[in-house]
Amino acid sequence: MKHQLALILALSTALSLFAQQPNAAYLAKREAYVLALMKKMTLDEKLGQLNLVVGGEATTGSSVSTDVETKIKAGRIGGIFSVSTPGRIRKIQELAVNQSRLKIPMIFGMDVIHGYKTLFPIPLGISSSWDMSLIEKMARISAVEATADGIFWTFSPMVDIARDPRWGRIAEGSGEDPYLGSQIAKAMVKGYQGKGYAQTNTMMACVKHFALYGAAEAGRDYHTTDMSKVRMYNEYLPPYKAALDAGAGSIMASFNEIDGVPATANKWLLTDLLRRQWGFKGLVVSDYTGISEMVNHGLGDLQTVAAKALMAGNDMDMVSESYVNTLGKSLREQKVTQAQIDLACRRVLEMKYDLGLFTDPYRYCDENRAKTEIFTTEHRTEARKAAGKSFVLLKNNQQTLPLPKRGTIALIGPLADNKENMAGTWSVSGDFTKCVSLEEGIKNVAGNVTILKARGSNIYSNARLDANVSIFGKPTNRDPRSDADMIAEAVATAQKADVVVAALGEAAEMTGEASSRSDIEIPENQRDLLKALIKTGKPVVLVLFTGRPLAIQWEHDNIPAILNVWFGGTEAGNAIADVLFGDVNPSGKLSATFPRNAGQIPIYYSYKNTGRPYGGNGVDFAKFQSNYLDVPNSPLYPFGHGLSYTKFEYSPITLSKNTLSMAVPKDAINVSVTVTNTGNYDGEEVVQLYIRDKVRSITPPVKELKGFQKIALKKGESKTVTFALGVEDLKFYNGELKFVAEPGEFLVFVGTSSSEVKEAGFSLK
Ligand code: BGC
Repeated sequence: MKHQLALILALSTALSLFAQQPNAAYLAKREAYVLALMKKMTLDEKLGQLNLVVGGEATTGSSVSTDVETKIKAGRIGGIFSVSTPGRIRKIQELAVNQSRLKIPMIFGMDVIHGYKTLFPIPLGISSSWDMSLIEKMARISAVEATADGIFWTFSPMVDIARDPRWGRIAEGSGEDPYLGSQIAKAMVKGYQGKGYAQTNTMMACVKHFALYGAAEAGRDYHTTDMSKVRMYNEYLPPYKAALDAGAGSIMASFNEIDGVPATANKWLLTDLLRRQWGFKGLVVSDYTGISEMVNHGLGDLQTVAAKALMAGNDMDMVSESYVNTLGKSLREQKVTQAQIDLACRRVLEMKYDLGLFTDPYRYCDENRAKTEIFTTEHRTEARKAAGKSFVLLKNNQQTLPLPKRGTIALIGPLADNKENMAGTWSVSGDFTKCVSLEEGIKNVAGNVTILKARGSNIYSNARLDANVSIFGKPTNRDPRSDADMIAEAVATAQKADVVVAALGEAAEMTGEASSRSDIEIPENQRDLLKALIKTGKPVVLVLFTGRPLAIQWEHDNIPAILNVWFGGTEAGNAIADVLFGDVNPSGKLSATFPRNAGQIPIYYSYKNTGRPYGGNGVDFAKFQSNYLDVPNSPLYPFGHGLSYTKFEYSPITLSKNTLSMAVPKDAINVSVTVTNTGNYDGEEVVQLYIRDKVRSITPPVKELKGFQKIALKKGESKTVTFALGVEDLKFYNGELKFVAEPGEFLVFVGTSSSEVKEAGFSLK
């Protein structure tokens, strides 16, 4: 007991600093420890530390790791991911600690992306809550559950800006905007890393995918990226930087190339920018076989690409085992230096030191915690709340929603009673069979309604396409009947009901890794079903499941109510029913633009004006202006859009003054609006602030988000919302990549979405 107490005290003094920045004394102690250990290490043992292998529970590439046990005992592995439970992890840790020569403990990681066992909405969904404390809580709960199950390193947050909804991994991030994305990145890191690693219920975050992974050409996963530095600095890099500034301990290099060199071997990216400019001190890990894939990229053979990755500043090799197998030879041939190997090894050991593993390698192996802290009622309650706040009411004509808790509902569609798909993509640790289906949710929330069910359609009519997305334990439960038979049954069912609830859209695995689509509409067979349902004359509510912005112009034109529910996680069904029946008033706002069709992609609110901006009425074509012959420039649903069951009215903007001065330190203008709830329900509103720099040395976007506040307003209530806008908020990276504000005129907008705003002006002197 006494011994245990002493250990806890020693641990907490050693680690308490990780609530904030490490202090000098701690760093000196760590350095002494790590260097002393490295003195005892052979070259092979050092390379072993750089080797991260995958366990049995999830793989995202064609390679899997083999002979793991033998390699651990030989000191040839530094960490492993995708294994869980304290029992299994303890056994694996024992191999390293009891049977390897230097007894160096291993790191255990996993992709804990939107919850661990208690699943929350997919990241694109939770980002639509615009609720930072909620998002932080999701990450906190994820860390509590994952560490209770032995895992203390998560490959999250994914902060890649994505403006191409064809790219399936848009589901894993926070959408299109660098400001919103940065706020979410910070909240996630804070949630995972909590008050510091001294506590065993925190885990290290790994920011990914550094960098620009979301800008894959044509939205095809793993494809080439190419962009200017000004765009990179202003629009794509801020969320990575924000996550690191929030203290993220590690970062993952992305698969894509930047300026012709894959991120994994990009010295400019991993050393000049990340280490020198940004001062990052933590660990860089490659993505899954990211190093060996550089052979396919055309950068040389395995030995060459591994050496390039090391020299660029990539410390750890995920799965490809190229470091452990080739760097020794490269050292002998003087293609890499001992100092380069030592530096990478040192970073891995520092991470282990920071996580307290040298003091207690079994810190996270507590069977009791696994029994009591995972999938708790409390966590599920939070997940249900979070899901409700992630849904976006895209359209609601004639107050079709909310529904009364009586009468007869025709519940139709392939996702109406599906549990597993509620989990959404990237939910490797979840038990999908424990997810609440929409049907169950309706029964739980509105027990008095009569539910009549019909399948209506499959996800895809085409069996091959259906099979492609019926994977990873998320079956689409294909119905063997013909499309026509299923539609006929659905129509007959609808005719007997007061209202139709159609649960349609994408299956969970239609987004996520390697799930790009060229056509982002609802599959045709599902649309045919909707057409038939609309013809019955019954009101139709479309409960839209999706992991990406979809092109749903037809649905918008024809369906009276559309509730976008993403993939809500464990409690999806309950949370959807909460909103359908008005127990929860929807408050989500899109974090990514919904296009009218795929031809508009990339489409985002903060576009540039061009030299020939479209000046028409928004509908008609205008020759020699920047527009399309066949579709308006405007999106179907803009960034920031999301309706409520109530109505919010905005007063004109008032400014505390009209001029901001660069000469006055911390000068700020207060930008205020009064928002009034004029409808019939209590509700929450995300008040959004945008600016436009009218003239600057590089062309400005027409609007940029610079602030938001989520407020709750009772029916009839008004609140004044004030934003302090300072010089820092007006800064951007100029042509020399200097972060500057330039004097001149600015517009400021406040409103309910990026396209519905009040406007005022001020100047910067
Ligand atoms: C993905 C990463 C993930 C890794 C490990 C890769 O294929 O791109 O996001 O963290 O696999 O599972």
